[in-house]
Amino acid sequence: MSMLKNDTLIRALLRQPTRYTPIWIMRQAGRYLPEYNQTRARAGSFLALCKNPDFSTEVTLQPLSRFALDAAILFSDILTIPDAMGLGLYFVEGEGPRFERPLREEWEIRNLFVPDPDQHLRYVLDAVAQIRRALSNQVPLIGFSGSPFTLACYMIEGRASADFRLVKTMLYQRPDLLHHVLDINCRAVTAYLNAQIDAGAQAVMIFDSWGGALSAAAYREFSLAYMQRIISALQREQGDTRIPSIVFTKGGGLWLEDIAAIGCDAIGLDWTVDIGTARKRVGNAVALQGNLDPAVLFASPQTIRTQAQQVLNAFGHGNGHVFNLGHGISQFTPPDNVAALVEAVHELSMALH
Ligand code: CP3
Repeated sequence: MSMLKNDTLIRALLRQPTRYTPIWIMRQAGRYLPEYNQTRARAGSFLALCKNPDFSTEVTLQPLSRFALDAAILFSDILTIPDAMGLGLYFVEGEGPRFERPLREEWEIRNLFVPDPDQHLRYVLDAVAQIRRALSNQVPLIGFSGSPFTLACYMIEGRASADFRLVKTMLYQRPDLLHHVLDINCRAVTAYLNAQIDAGAQAVMIFDSWGGALSAAAYREFSLAYMQRIISALQREQGDTRIPSIVFTKGGGLWLEDIAAIGCDAIGLDWTVDIGTARKRVGNAVALQGNLDPAVLFASPQTIRTQAQQVLNAFGHGNGHVFNLGHGISQFTPPDNVAALVEAVHELSMALH
């Protein structure tokens, strides 16, 4: 029994019947919204925004007051974990995340520790609890973390990378060292997600943004295996409500059967995959989340509607689809186009349920 007024997202993730296809949008609170930019300016920086539960709550709710979205997602970042490990996260305007102390020496890797969420990530858990109160059960709150491998990419490269030279050199030259980093990250992510669930997260998503840069064999050994360990150690229930899990490997379209087998409730799809083909491949094992190309939101409302209809039709009739973009929304998206998308998905999907 759920207390939620709108539990469409949770039902769809668990492949239960719904009246329509629920929609939320990766990065739905962000720079395409003028009110977000204002709050960020008041906070002083993106990190100050993340670390203050009042600000984090405020921006989490911003997209929900504009659009009829079926979920809220915690406003935070995947890099809070390596920051809590002492690597010194900072952001360079227009260039993305950086670490002051990336992992360069073996002794630094041997000194890594699993942060205690209640202590080192208290501000995130406070934000989760505060957002839940502010939502008063209107829609569910999604918690999230990066995957152990994706976090390791940033920890080892020290920043976003085009070729992953450092992390891949370690993967082939010193797999034992990379496995050590991944083991620590795996335990950190598990504790972090379970703490988010304890604080009130009603679904959780693992962002494996860079798993798709690996070979098939390396993906299984260095990314998927650790996500499997996390999924099997997650709290499946809070009280008597199920907490569904979503795994999103960007570029993971070739490995959907393997991902479906790790025990998650849903798989996130990027836009390179045909969602109908994906559904045939995974059968009834999992729900699917996705997968409109974010660039569609640069087009007219009429085109957005046609493209949304194509994704809905490709999935077809029945349960188990959560509509989303295939990756985060661009900062150059006109907000009115998001309104057109949400309306189109709600309206057009009725005929498929
Ligand atoms: O979806 C949501 O609305 C929740 C918030 C959220 C953010 N980051 C806020 C954010 C989530 C779920 C993330 C996840 C995240 N962060 C990922 C995985 C998802 C993905 O995109 O693959 C990654 C790789 C990161 C690391 C990160 N944080 C990068 C690469 C950047 C720079 C991105 C850019 O466009 O410049 C960030 C910063 C960030 N995280 C912003 C937001 C809203 C922009 C910060 C700003 O206001 O300048």
